[in-house]
Amino acid sequence: MSNYHIKSFEEYFQVYRKSIENPEVFWEEIAEEHFTWRKKWHNVLSWDFTKPEVKWFEGAQLNVTENCLDRHLSTRGDKTAILFEPNDPNASAEHITYKQLHERVCKFANVLKSKGIQKGDRVCIYLPMIPELAISVLACARIGAVHSVVFAGFSATALSTRVNDCDAKMVITSDGSYRGAKTIDLKGIVDDALEDCPGVDAVLVAKRINSDINMKTGRDHWLQPLLDDAYGDCVIEIMDAEDPLFILYTSGSTGMPKGMLHTSAGYMVYSAYTFKNVFDYRENDVYWCTADIGWITGHSYIVYGPLANGATTVMFEGVPSYPDFGRFWDIVEKHKVNQFYTAPTAIRALAKHGTELVEKHDLSSLKVLGTVGEPINEEAWHWYNENIGKKKSPIVDTWWQTETGGIMITPIPFSTPTKPTYATLPFIGIQPVLMDENGKELGDNQVDGRLCIKYPWPSMARTIWGNHQRYKDTYFSAFENMYFTGDGALRDEVGYYRITGRVDDVIIVSGHNLGTAPIEDAINEHQAVAESAIVGFPHDVKGNALYGYVTLKDSGENRDHDNLRKEINQLITDRIGPIAKLDKIQFTNGLPKTRSGKIMRRILRKIACNEADQLGDISTLLNPEVVDEIINNAI
Ligand code: WTA
Repeated sequence: MSNYHIKSFEEYFQVYRKSIENPEVFWEEIAEEHFTWRKKWHNVLSWDFTKPEVKWFEGAQLNVTENCLDRHLSTRGDKTAILFEPNDPNASAEHITYKQLHERVCKFANVLKSKGIQKGDRVCIYLPMIPELAISVLACARIGAVHSVVFAGFSATALSTRVNDCDAKMVITSDGSYRGAKTIDLKGIVDDALEDCPGVDAVLVAKRINSDINMKTGRDHWLQPLLDDAYGDCVIEIMDAEDPLFILYTSGSTGMPKGMLHTSAGYMVYSAYTFKNVFDYRENDVYWCTADIGWITGHSYIVYGPLANGATTVMFEGVPSYPDFGRFWDIVEKHKVNQFYTAPTAIRALAKHGTELVEKHDLSSLKVLGTVGEPINEEAWHWYNENIGKKKSPIVDTWWQTETGGIMITPIPFSTPTKPTYATLPFIGIQPVLMDENGKELGDNQVDGRLCIKYPWPSMARTIWGNHQRYKDTYFSAFENMYFTGDGALRDEVGYYRITGRVDDVIIVSGHNLGTAPIEDAINEHQAVAESAIVGFPHDVKGNALYGYVTLKDSGENRDHDNLRKEINQLITDRIGPIAKLDKIQFTNGLPKTRSGKIMRRILRKIACNEADQLGDISTLLNPEVVDEIINNAI
């Protein structure tokens, strides 16, 4: 019997030991007993981190949607698969059963085929959080097309970059989206983006806000009439274990966003197994993850993990602040949510509005609370624990990444004793290590550890789409024979991990990973700008906010700095999206540089964080004199 559902701390240790001592036997049992295969594997794992190359369940054949849909039909056909809660609190929620979801996915898959999409083709999905988003993701998976979901808050430029990088043939979008009291013209953004995307020959448009939009003849098609005419069954495409399932872009410290490629079998097995255990999901539970499917959290823990377990997964279209900051608790009460998974930034924003809006609601259905996306600070942890969990629901602080595909370090609820700000212990099968800068392994309670993983796990990304060398350089070159996460961490004396934050130039703002380089590139496009550097500084709701240091080509006294700030933020909004806007912009006559011309961000970071007294030795700089000027004018 495999250990699919872990129920005690002792059992966690037993299963963990088994998964480390004999990973192949362990994962083979999990895969065999809990999933549907069209053909069995001949090899559980082959790997070589020097190439790097990792293959799980080689030789196996399957379709992920057969596991997420078809196999539940006989036992859970009338159970709600997706519980859709619309933006408008007065509109009724939609319960989509497994049977209905199966039919809607099949119809959508047939529409994709009728528009020429074939196995291996890339399809870009740019949709708000409406059922069509989950359905189109699954429709792609059903026919073996590779979906690339782009978060519908990204700008036209960001969208076109991603569409072109993965060479998508089709874009799926909607006329517009609701965001609280506002609407957003999504189709207009797609039209702008596609000016630069010659490879896209079809756009499917879902109707959501009934706005008057342009439909380009021959390219754009309303989705609904096509679905109405489509056949309600669609045979699965049989996929090899290592066939691509999806690409999802994540920011790097430099250059283009990285299209992380996830493959079929390993991703399915790991996202399902973690879902079951990290949330202690039981058959009649209602589970809600507040993330957007545009991020990995939504892929693994709104769509694939829950559906592979036959769960009921809530999909929420709106925002936590509309119609007021009690909306989350209203939804928890209304749908009797049992597991609630959100981000520290949301918790902090809600905590700011006091407990009155919480107390109005009956939250007694809650059993497990989760957090993800950035380190959770002590204050937010306690607020969540006391006011939402009433000190009864364990908080699972789950550490993982787009690249890891699934949760890596986390408590198991009701088993692992929690500790505020600690993600605690590695999940089953995960072998973390802490390394120092020079590649030496660190012990417990040592500072400045870099978190690495020394053994493969089933859902790790296999490559960066179109750039395997970059995959190797970014993740497998810093430390020999290990996956480097880019995060700093420490481990206490009982083996609990605490993630301290990024050690590279990625800054997490409101849970969104932002690379400094693309933001600087956007700023430098401004004709008045000579050079810029972005750093993060602590923010009480967003976790981090962005501080930009900008030098101008001509620093004339009578420049309108406020206007320049607005123009710079507009450029960032156009090139990336509003999430990357700067909170502070300081104009300066120079940026501190090393003798080789590299900008010393460490110094700029200290100044932005009000720690200018801790700069250390700056005499080796090329231009130490600019430092005083920057300190004196800091915002
Ligand atoms: C950070 C999100 C501390 C971390 C699933 C990681 C966290 C990055 C936690 C990945 C956590 C995520 N505690 N930090 N529980 N979870 N992070 O790719 O820096 O959007 O590298 O994946 O978020 O963000 P991504």
